[in-house]
Amino acid sequence: MKNGKFLTMAIESSCDETSVALLIEGREVLSNVISSQIKVHQVFGGVVPEIASRHHLDNINQVTDQALAEAGVTWDEVDLIGVTYGPGLVGALLIGLASAKAFAFAKNIPLVGVHHIQGHISANYIEHPDLEPPFMALVVSGGHTNIVEVKDYNTFEVLGGTRDDAAGEAFDKVARVLGLGYPGGPLIDKVAKEGNPQAIPFKRVFLEKGSFDFSFSGIKTGVLNYLNSEKQAGREVVVADVAASFQQAVMDVIVAKAVTAALAMKKDKLVLAGGVAANSKLREMLHEQCEKNGIQLYCPSPILCTDNAAMIGCAAYYKYKAGFVSDLTLDAFPNLSLSAR
Ligand code: KG4
Ligand code: ZN
Repeated sequence: MKNGKFLTMAIESSCDETSVALLIEGREVLSNVISSQIKVHQVFGGVVPEIASRHHLDNINQVTDQALAEAGVTWDEVDLIGVTYGPGLVGALLIGLASAKAFAFAKNIPLVGVHHIQGHISANYIEHPDLEPPFMALVVSGGHTNIVEVKDYNTFEVLGGTRDDAAGEAFDKVARVLGLGYPGGPLIDKVAKEGNPQAIPFKRVFLEKGSFDFSFSGIKTGVLNYLNSEKQAGREVVVADVAASFQQAVMDVIVAKAVTAALAMKKDKLVLAGGVAANSKLREMLHEQCEKNGIQLYCPSPILCTDNAAMIGCAAYYKYKAGFVSDLTLDAFPNLSLSAR
């Protein structure tokens, strides 16, 4: 307890960010230290799982100490430890998990395993203190693209997901073929501002009528084919136009499906989450469509969109309050489903 208030520590290590956070009463962030490995993986054009695990191991203790120091709290005040146990890179998850279990055991603190996507959604509770379920959530990240009906803090129904690439993955792959660098999402977002989104009519893939699933591998191939045909014809490619047209095509589908899902399930709140939620075009389009359809849109600030431990701590708090506790046999699940918990 910190001044009589419940204190949660959380650890996130599912991909390439080692993060530890401390929160009061689940929603008030005292510290949220994020050690990013982006520079390490940049030379490879993507995250190398084994290298990620090693860096988590190098960083975790220091990040934990820093999080405690920045929050101005001691171990004795920590009431709960939350940790991401899936989905993610198994070696990376295991480092955070082993640390959380060791801390919980040594300090005799309850432990709660958190689904990474529940964490992303929970970032919105931190950002918007008045937000409460039920609502519709759009989760768009490097590993996931899901439309989720959030029935209460711990009950979810996944209405749709990607059948191949996640949205962020498609952004990263297209950025690579355009020679923009890694991670590609923010770079495409930036370059696209200078381009014409109507320049190239990339196909919008909506799948079967009424489906809330996604498919982004086709548009990725579409960009590759376009670049090859332009090269063969000896024409110069306008990178900004390709980036803007690709981004528009992806967002046309995502926005349409998310708003349709909210209306279909009679939800007047739509919550945006995940790394791609930082995308300026997505935010602009969602604002417009939500306003038109009487839906209130909730977005986290950019630092809470990408991977961070504060969002995991918030989710852990609500799981614990609902009676969920993990024991020290808690394992990492790289493909953990949101309904499994
Ligand atoms: O949520 P996150 O940090 O990690 C996963 O759980 O996957 O998301 C990272 C993803 C990357 O694919 C990155 O390119 C994408 O989010 N991203 C963006 C933007 N900022 C980050 N995609 C589009 N536009 C952005 N501004
Ligand atoms: Zn994530």
